[in-house]
Amino acid sequence: MGDAKKLFIKTYGCQMNVYDSERMAEALGGAGYAEVGSAAEADMILLNTCHIREKAAEKVYSELGRLRALKAERPDLKIGVAGCVAQAEGAEILRRAPVVDLVVGPQSYHRLPAMAEAAARGERALDTDFPEEDKFDHLAARPKARRAPSAFLTVQEGCDKFCAFCVVPYTRGAEVSRPAARILAEARDLVERGVREITLLGQNVNAYHGHAGGLAGLVRALAGIDGLARIRYTTSHPNDMDDALIAAHGDCEKLMPYLHLPVQSGSDRVLKAMNRKHTAAQYLRLVERIRAARPDIVMSGDFITGFPGETEEDFRATLELVEAVNYGMCYSFKYSPRPGTPAAERAQVPEAEKDDRLQRLQALLTAQQRACQESMVGREVSVLFEKPGRLAGQMGGKSDYLHAVHVHAPGAQPGDIARVRVTGSAANSLAGELV
Ligand code: SAH
Ligand code: SF4
Ligand code: F3S
Repeated sequence: MGDAKKLFIKTYGCQMNVYDSERMAEALGGAGYAEVGSAAEADMILLNTCHIREKAAEKVYSELGRLRALKAERPDLKIGVAGCVAQAEGAEILRRAPVVDLVVGPQSYHRLPAMAEAAARGERALDTDFPEEDKFDHLAARPKARRAPSAFLTVQEGCDKFCAFCVVPYTRGAEVSRPAARILAEARDLVERGVREITLLGQNVNAYHGHAGGLAGLVRALAGIDGLARIRYTTSHPNDMDDALIAAHGDCEKLMPYLHLPVQSGSDRVLKAMNRKHTAAQYLRLVERIRAARPDIVMSGDFITGFPGETEEDFRATLELVEAVNYGMCYSFKYSPRPGTPAAERAQVPEAEKDDRLQRLQALLTAQQRACQESMVGREVSVLFEKPGRLAGQMGGKSDYLHAVHVHAPGAQPGDIARVRVTGSAANSLAGELV
């Protein structure tokens, strides 16, 4: 395809955007676009954007500022904005950034080929509908190319929870689950193409209801696929962790012992103001039940510091919860007021306090993360090799607990799974040797 047009996609935000970018590339592949690795050589540049915090959204406009120079040199260059900023700001982007040719929201990606055609005719196109049809049914069939051993698969989109700080219910719309049969077909196809590990994605993935048995039912159905060795899922809401899913962590061997279960705060007052609809004690009890089913599970979470109304005492309750859970991995953020969300209208915590709390929280979380890694030293784990490491004969991959592990394994291939004894722990990875 010497005359294929060149497409460059830059992805921001969460894993769902990573998955969507793959699907957009495939959709445009059917319309004669081939993906390239840099903006400089592209005929079309798509920014797949994130609106979750102010910084994330600002990045889009600064990137568009930079792209203006590129477009001045090459007027035929087409520039599109996709993802959650596209959904949130829509026509405002076309107004603010004349350099943009098309704006497409996350539920309209199947309409991209038509929008690209319009852009080629010199029109500016906007589509931020939440259409009746399921975009996944209308996307081009996935090509048969060989894939990396680990893949994302979106099973659920949108959110009905309306946490008081969060834009996702507005940018991704109401909760929708894809039918299990479609997901199983896509998973089988991925496995045929070399995938060994699938991470099921959803904004509230454990609210999945496209299978009679919920997410647990889907996980067990996927576990029946020969060649698929590992299943993960993210992100879960505590209130949707049902008994069946907890039980699956105990007896479904392919379900990996790692769980991202954000709680956001350890203060009941703040949890209530956030509209999380559970208390700190309920969350701790839930973690206990999960650990009873799978004692070695590594827990991960998300936290926000400086939510409107959070006092020093509230913040200490968060530190206490973190101490009680003992996380293996964590993400923490300063509260960022988002337009259109209830908490943005409330009295705000001073920036310096948000900062100070974030630093104290991160110190604790980093110490727990390090302790978790160090607790792996001397243990045997299984590692899914993903790519060769920097040293000759070295392979890099992920343990069942999602730690990055480097192993001297001459002759091993990406996609191999090996038993490995962990011999050391560095800042962000483990070293190990074949057993
Ligand atoms: N659907 C997921 C995560 C959504 S966004 C869930 O329910 O957990 C990922 C994380 O970003 C959230 O868990 C939260 O910790 C953080 N976040 C969301 N909105 C935020 C805001 N306005 N300011 C700071 N952090 C925010
Ligand atoms: Fe946002 Fe809350 Fe929904 Fe997660 S559960 S996506 S934090 S509204
Ligand atoms: Fe960002 Fe949208 Fe994901 S706001 S975190 S890209 S769902």
